[in-house]
Amino acid sequence: MLEQQNVARLISAYGGTLVNLMVNGEERQEWIEKSSRLPVVQISPRSLCDLELLATGAFSPLTRFMGKADYQRVLNEMRLESGTLFPMPVTLSLDPKVLEGGVEQVVLSDARNNRLAVMQIEEAYEWNADEEAQLVLGTTDPRHPLVAEMKRWGKVYVSGAIKMLELPRYHDFINLRRTPAEVREMLTEMGHENVVAFQTRNPMHRIHEELTKRAAEEVNGSLLIHPVVGMTKPGDVDHFTRVRIYRALVENYYDQKQTLLSLLPLAMRMAGPREAVWHAIIRRNFGATHFIIGRDHAGPGKDSNGKPFYGPYDAQMLLAQHAPEIGVQPVEFKELVYLADAERYEEANKVPEGTKIFTISGTQVREDYLAKGKQLPEWFTRKETSDILQQMYPPREQQGICIWFTGLSGAGKSTTAEILVSMLLERGRQITLLDGDVVRTHLSKGLGFSREDRDANILRIGYVSSEIARHGGLVITAAISPYLSTRTEVRKLVGDERFIEVFVDTPIEVCEERDVKGMYAKARQGIITGFTGVDDPYEPPVNPEITLDTVNFTPEQNAANIVRYLEVNGYLPLATPPMGLSRAN
Ligand code: ADX
Repeated sequence: MLEQQNVARLISAYGGTLVNLMVNGEERQEWIEKSSRLPVVQISPRSLCDLELLATGAFSPLTRFMGKADYQRVLNEMRLESGTLFPMPVTLSLDPKVLEGGVEQVVLSDARNNRLAVMQIEEAYEWNADEEAQLVLGTTDPRHPLVAEMKRWGKVYVSGAIKMLELPRYHDFINLRRTPAEVREMLTEMGHENVVAFQTRNPMHRIHEELTKRAAEEVNGSLLIHPVVGMTKPGDVDHFTRVRIYRALVENYYDQKQTLLSLLPLAMRMAGPREAVWHAIIRRNFGATHFIIGRDHAGPGKDSNGKPFYGPYDAQMLLAQHAPEIGVQPVEFKELVYLADAERYEEANKVPEGTKIFTISGTQVREDYLAKGKQLPEWFTRKETSDILQQMYPPREQQGICIWFTGLSGAGKSTTAEILVSMLLERGRQITLLDGDVVRTHLSKGLGFSREDRDANILRIGYVSSEIARHGGLVITAAISPYLSTRTEVRKLVGDERFIEVFVDTPIEVCEERDVKGMYAKARQGIITGFTGVDDPYEPPVNPEITLDTVNFTPEQNAANIVRYLEVNGYLPLATPPMGLSRAN
């Protein structure tokens, strides 16, 4: 690897040299010409995963991003041009501008500009997102996570020989990251003829332990726990948390002599049946002879009509048809459920009617247990798993939030915010108050009141707020923030679940009458221009979490209302009444 890094450096220094290159997993000497002057294309995180798996042989026999002939046949028949089964398009999309002037080679780099590969542009062809989505995913519904993403891809696909300069660099869990060759070697050393692989993108609970242990027993061989750490479904538990869980479980509950945990930098497509076939091909390349496939494998959830995109066993059926050709046998499971009285797991189709069944869904784990700080039951998950999840997803009252005041100048934002700060400090929370006027003397010094400058100011406040809230802090902002689109952007930045928008809905006449800073008078006289509500618009929130009436209620009452909102929604523990007083008093 070091040698390859040096190669990359040599190339950029001299622009042309004889180098040792990894080409499709093999080392070769090649002359790379002036690659420092080649166009550098930063590829997406998805393409980066694809590039790595192409380079290491995980997608074998595919060794390059698909050309048109492969692509078309894969779309229509799940086969490469050569006839080999391959169900998933693996393509590299570009903006056609990159290719202007007859570019023949490009350097592929990651987001940090590490040069990873030189690609010969042998082909560039147009593609159609709707056609690809319909054929591969069976839908063009934008609720499908890949459909939504595909709309943003470049307009042409390119293909050609790839010369790897270095593999993507990782700094996390490096001893669990291995190439197919390394995994095959370790499995061979384990000495079992059969190897059953387990794919997952979720934390492993007791149910998954059951699946994997039963499968290993059934094939009488080794178990390859092979979780995806590239890209999974948006909203999934991050891989750092998941890998800590997998590692703890493997160490404590699996037979070390026949279990191998290895990470797979795959970018999932959430394509259900086709994806299952692809997963099996990939695992064959890693040395598996068997592959676990349960309920709703690689399922993307529900469509716009609330119906699942694929049937729960569609993936099993498609894989069963193609398994002999792949050379991997499916180990199938119907949905596993917990039998409360018998205290064991069983496949749903084998459970007699009327039996008491327990299940906890992923959403329930988050909302009914973690958010409330409630311990997950032993039958559902190991203590190690529940401890790690609780550490990473603390109860809502310990999570960060952003209380975002918006309203006209003089509406009462700062006044209410300051009272709220004191009330929350009394309750033991640490608070950062970002007041619009104060921020303008620090974070946004020099910015004026043009639309651009106002947006820049709000986005800065939004960015700082998002960081504070992400780290468990409570941040309160009080800035006019007049534009709806900018506030929407801030909401996205902070995260919908942590963003509490408080609309201080004071009519302009009242604000003007108060005119605490004398600004309205100046604006009316034309001494200052671009003043919100006078000659610049205020766009009220559409669906704020809280709306305050400052005409009929005092700032104290309004602040108390916000505190109540926080309590009711679990962001703040309920106040203990003062000694000697009960709530009824
Ligand atoms: S997936 O997107 O990687 O398929 P997940 O990590 O939830 O999602 O599932 C991993 C594998 O375990 C899949 O083969 C899935 O079908 C199987 N699986 C997960 N939960 C169950 C269950 N309750 N019963 C049967 N199989 C399951």
